[in-house]
Amino acid sequence: MGKFEIETDDLVYNPSDDTFLLAENLEIKEGMSVLEIGTGSGLVSMYASLLTDDVTATDINYNALELAEKNFKLNNIDNIKLKFGDLFEPVKNEKFDVILFNTPYLPTDSDDIINDDLNYAFDGGLDGRKVIDRFIEEAPNHLNDKGIIQMIQSSLSDNDKTLNMFDRNGFIAEIAQSERFFFEEIVLINAYKI
Ligand SMILES: C[S@@+](CC[C@H](N)C(=O)[O-])C[C@H]1O[C@@H](n2cnc3c(N)ncnc32)[C@H](O)[C@@H]1O
Repeated sequence: MGKFEIETDDLVYNPSDDTFLLAENLEIKEGMSVLEIGTGSGLVSMYASLLTDDVTATDINYNALELAEKNFKLNNIDNIKLKFGDLFEPVKNEKFDVILFNTPYLPTDSDDIINDDLNYAFDGGLDGRKVIDRFIEEAPNHLNDKGIIQMIQSSLSDNDKTLNMFDRNGFIAEIAQSERFFFEEIVLINAYKI
């Protein structure tokens, strides 16, 4: 897909417009350490691995890790570490220069929940912020000085709240890119630690 050959899986998020909004706008320089939370098919981390040798990718969906591993092999990529778990739990004592997350940002009520691991890909709880809020609270503890967070969300999940949370936590944050769709705008937010 794009630069890479990618297999998909019914239980894992298929790369989509939001994936490419992140993958094609990475703020990574050679030598930087990079963490991608929620790697899905592994595609964003594969783009990151073209820019630096130090990439760690996680997911809470074990099917995603199996698929990402397959996709790394398919593309002869052997420099991405894969870890299983919830947000920063798999990298408890580690810090990174760049943290990436295409978040599960869709407002989801009980009728929209699907009963398998694919649910992790989109379920942002009633206001779309169930995972986003936890991510923004925990991410600063895992970021080196002058580090960068790049995350994707939707106008349906309150972009201003994200920008304000970063502001209060000592970041300069901005909407760096956006793409308008029929019922929402998908945004890439870059937050720079000052
Ligand atoms: C919108 S999908 C993005 C997948 C892939 N990065 C992409 O851009 O195509 C969100 C991903 O985050 C994962 N995820 C959701 N909640 C998570 C959590 N608490 N900790 C780690 N990963 C999580 C999902 O399993 C899913 O793979």
